[in-house]
Amino acid sequence: MNTILLNKISDVKKTVKEWKKSGYSIGFVPTMGALHAGHASLIKKAKETADKVIVSIFVNPIQFCQGEDLDKYPKTLEEDAKLCNEIGVDVIFAPSPKEMYGENVKLNNNELTFVCPPFNIVDCMCGKSRIGHFDGVATVVLKLFNITQPDYAFFGQKDAQQLFILKKMVKDLNLDVEIIPCPLVREQDGLALSSRNTYLSTEERNQALTISKALFYIRELYNKGICDTSVLFDSAISVLDKNIDIEYLEFRNFDTLDKTNEAKDNTLVAIAVKVGKTRLIDNIIL
Ligand code: PAF
Repeated sequence: MNTILLNKISDVKKTVKEWKKSGYSIGFVPTMGALHAGHASLIKKAKETADKVIVSIFVNPIQFCQGEDLDKYPKTLEEDAKLCNEIGVDVIFAPSPKEMYGENVKLNNNELTFVCPPFNIVDCMCGKSRIGHFDGVATVVLKLFNITQPDYAFFGQKDAQQLFILKKMVKDLNLDVEIIPCPLVREQDGLALSSRNTYLSTEERNQALTISKALFYIRELYNKGICDTSVLFDSAISVLDKNIDIEYLEFRNFDTLDKTNEAKDNTLVAIAVKVGKTRLIDNIIL
């Protein structure tokens, strides 16, 4: 099987049109590349679910805030293509920013139409520090949906807030795509897989291991009957490496994202931290 690499929107649209005419269902996995086993699990799920699979690889400039890692975001297109080929992806769509947003367009909402999810769900958790991030995500994902016309789109539960926002966008805008959430994937030692893990030094990686340790400790205490989130919060903080900067550690209903003071089954425990200069997120669902 040979994965086809397409860079032009028109070529993807042409392929999709032919597939639709033949009655094939389409599974779509949007990514920013630097693919790891977490992405592979999404792609495999797409292969099981749909007749044809498209993976997009696009480091989307409009979802990065000032001072973030847009310029140094890892780019490994050759390895990514190899992985996609091994899994049996039909098409990789890897457009340039110019192809997606046009030439000489200032990437702000004076010159571009943006999708703006409701303020209350973007002005919390990751959106609190990443102003405009989820507008950028929703905008690019809607564009990618319009280009690839998927029946199913696959997103990791690691980005729980992103998943929630995109499900809401699909519902609110009556999009004809089913969002399929896929479980977070971890290294053997518990570290949640992330393309940004490549930034970590050995020392920082050891510090980062305490993130999942803290979450697993919360699960252990919850399973023993401790539901008070302030007790769970303090216990988790005591496990985290002291060099880690905590951005948030929050308890929310996984289905509604409402905050909760009492942990229950289906409570999302989500954390965002900085280890050195690297921002990492992780979560568990109780
Ligand atoms: O989760 C990601 O990698 C990105 O936010 C996405 C969904 C590919 C949009 O750029």
